[in-house]
Amino acid sequence: MATLDFPQTVIAIETSCDETAAAILRGTELLASEVASQIAIHQEYGGVVPEVASRNHLRALKPVIQKALDTAGITIGDIDAFAATCGPGLASSLMIGTSAAKALAASQAKPYLAINHIEGHLLSPFFGTAEGVLPSIALVVSGGHTMLVEIESFGNYRLLGRTQDDAAGEAFDKVGKLLGLPYPGGPNIDRLAKEGDPARFDFPRSMLDSGSLDFSFSGLKTSVRYLLPKLESLPIPDLCASFQEAVVDVLVGKAIQAVKATGKKRIAVSGGVSCNSRLREKFRIACERRRIELLIAKPSLCTDNAAMIAYVAALRAANGESSSLTSDIDPNLRLATR
Ligand code: KG4
Ligand code: ZN
Repeated sequence: MATLDFPQTVIAIETSCDETAAAILRGTELLASEVASQIAIHQEYGGVVPEVASRNHLRALKPVIQKALDTAGITIGDIDAFAATCGPGLASSLMIGTSAAKALAASQAKPYLAINHIEGHLLSPFFGTAEGVLPSIALVVSGGHTMLVEIESFGNYRLLGRTQDDAAGEAFDKVGKLLGLPYPGGPNIDRLAKEGDPARFDFPRSMLDSGSLDFSFSGLKTSVRYLLPKLESLPIPDLCASFQEAVVDVLVGKAIQAVKATGKKRIAVSGGVSCNSRLREKFRIACERRRIELLIAKPSLCTDNAAMIAYVAALRAANGESSSLTSDIDPNLRLATR
């Protein structure tokens, strides 16, 4: 079953990295989705500091849960199931969200559901659609992951390709740092690229014609690094636009190759990098031309949030599934694929 035609109320907590989030879903209706971002805190360090992240989750989580309940206009007693992200992510951050969800579930004598963060991203393009999860080629592009997955149905996934080194978002963030931009680099490169020339620098489209559906972004980052000392001044918008164009060409190109290889007629794009305006535009053009149906997660569902976790939890609950209160976190959790 991949639709949510049942009236359960699920709360989900997401604390895998630097966002403290809680969301409440009743059937198909998102009653609340709160995100307390730590970006401003981590900007000072140029990246996420695990110890700082977990301390701030601890501080932010209770108010975030309360805000979600207030926005939804319900109390904790109205919740039918309690979910949290159990991996992958930072161990000390995952511990905080899962411990809270387990404690609340135990206190209310309701089920607990441990949810895989990658599956949250993977299915987020289907959230709010009438049909629910449909057979597709899915591209998950975030700060930690870059993968192509063939979705047959909810829970039935085949891994087609993944990055062999940096994730796409990681490449954006590292290049942002090289260019002296604030953390995270992705949204800043996106903004500055709008004023730049994407053809000014010809950066490599790594592995685009390799015949495999794997990715590699570390060479691209290295070519930016080698270029910078050779330039008299830094044309930041042109560098942003040219780098972004190279990443987008590879992501769109590989997704189209996956469509050709599998015969699937639908592409579902998710993860923080799917906020990128050029990626969204190039996917739209490529899919229109080939009559491929395109689903891209709503911007509020692209970066880390708890609504996508609540959606997977609700689908599991609808299947009658739950997790043991003794189940552990797994910082290296993988997506279950065949
Ligand atoms: O999904 P997400 O919030 O966290 C992970 O699970 O990793 O993704 C965060 C990543 C960061 O690398 C960030 O730079 C990137 O998504 N990102 C973007 C944009 N917005 C966020 N990358 C490119 N363009 C954007 N507009
Ligand atoms: Zn994420």
